[in-house]
Amino acid sequence: MGKYDPTPYQLDLNAIPKIISPTLPGPKSTALHNRAKQHYRGISGQVRLFPVAFEKAQGCMMEDVDGNQYIDFSSGIYVTSLGHCHPKVTEAVVKYAKRLMNCHDFTTEIKTRLLEKMAATLPGDLKCFQLYDCGTAAVEAGLRTCRAATGKHEFLSFFQDFHGKSGHSISLARMTKFSGASREPGFYLMPRPDTYRPLWVDADGVIDTDAYLDFYDKIIKECTTGQIAALVAEPIQGWAGSIMPPDDFFPKLKKFLEERNILFMADEVLTSMGRCGKTLCCEHWDVVPDVVTIGKGFGNGFPVTAMAVREPYADAVDKISASTSYGGNPMACAAALACFEVIEEEGLLEHSMHLEELFKKRMADWTEKYEIVGDTRCKGCLLGIELVKDKVKKTPFDEAGKMVYQKAFAKGLAWVPAGHILRMSPPIVMPDEVAQKGMDIIEEAIFETQKELLG
Ligand SMILES: Cc1ncc(COP(=O)(O)O)c(C=O)c1O
Repeated sequence: MGKYDPTPYQLDLNAIPKIISPTLPGPKSTALHNRAKQHYRGISGQVRLFPVAFEKAQGCMMEDVDGNQYIDFSSGIYVTSLGHCHPKVTEAVVKYAKRLMNCHDFTTEIKTRLLEKMAATLPGDLKCFQLYDCGTAAVEAGLRTCRAATGKHEFLSFFQDFHGKSGHSISLARMTKFSGASREPGFYLMPRPDTYRPLWVDADGVIDTDAYLDFYDKIIKECTTGQIAALVAEPIQGWAGSIMPPDDFFPKLKKFLEERNILFMADEVLTSMGRCGKTLCCEHWDVVPDVVTIGKGFGNGFPVTAMAVREPYADAVDKISASTSYGGNPMACAAALACFEVIEEEGLLEHSMHLEELFKKRMADWTEKYEIVGDTRCKGCLLGIELVKDKVKKTPFDEAGKMVYQKAFAKGLAWVPAGHILRMSPPIVMPDEVAQKGMDIIEEAIFETQKELLG
């Protein structure tokens, strides 16, 4: 296990962020974006709010086509956790791009080494894997595995979780008339504990996880046929705004599920690979899920994801026709193996936890200092700041969220908006000074937004 060294990731903070365009997005960004928009549709809200065009990135810095340089607090979209273009990952991909790009799911040495590394690194008896090219495909395979392992067909999941945009993965989450489908039969959603917005509290005002479990029991009895294959959950909700569970929730939930012969499938597409300070976020609570999906930081930008299955359920994977065209291709395996090695060699799980302390300290008094900040939270390098109009009613302040996002971006911080919740996912390689500088920019943007909106 190596020790974190900030040297390769340092930025000259006298020079970066560097905003040289008189207005943002700069002229080249605008021209390029307008050309692309003629043909590229379905652009995300994130880009619509700040339509820059990026040219290159290295470590914790991103540069747009006008030469403006930003500190990266997004890791793409929770993806480039080891910093952009980590040399070891790049080298690994290039090596296999020259040697062997695809041989379907035939065995290769690089895939075998990745599988052995995963088996040695993941907790408990998570020893059996299949590889995919996006998180959604891994989630779909996970659902099919749970059905094959149990012979049961129904699923439980949680309000405001996000698991992908295909027919089944979208059925696990909130749907709108734009989802393009109705919820598949047999999918049931339930509320999960959110310490900032609890539904049930005990006599001392502390969130009551047992009350949530009692409610799940009622849902199972009243809504399902009892043929539940699995409960699927994000350990920490990413898309919803970095919403963290109380520490007793997942251990109690796992026991609750075991007592009812229901599998626990953790969707760790976003929370794994050091994003939350551990290889799997569930390790924070000593919970080993029966099935896990891993993505985003798994390839640090190369599209590779995985489904991991505990040994007792491994035979089920053989029944679901699990392989795909791109899953487990040699470039993907080389990228993912390099990511595991970099995390180990550079002591990045420890550094992610160290950054958690830094961020928590930094935000500790923000709810007192700023009228619009209702809550701040952080696990490893996954952060959320909830902006509200009224601290008693906790009314979401979407306008403030948009303004803070745009102001901070214009000051040189590339990051991820989510309505009234600010979401941050800086690379886990980030040096302390750079992390502090990013937080300076966010704090300035909050201060200015509050002043403009509330006077
Ligand atoms: C928890 C979770 N699951 C699944 C997905 C879907 O992954 P992908 O976009 O790679 O298909 C995402 C994507 O954001 C996610 O955050």
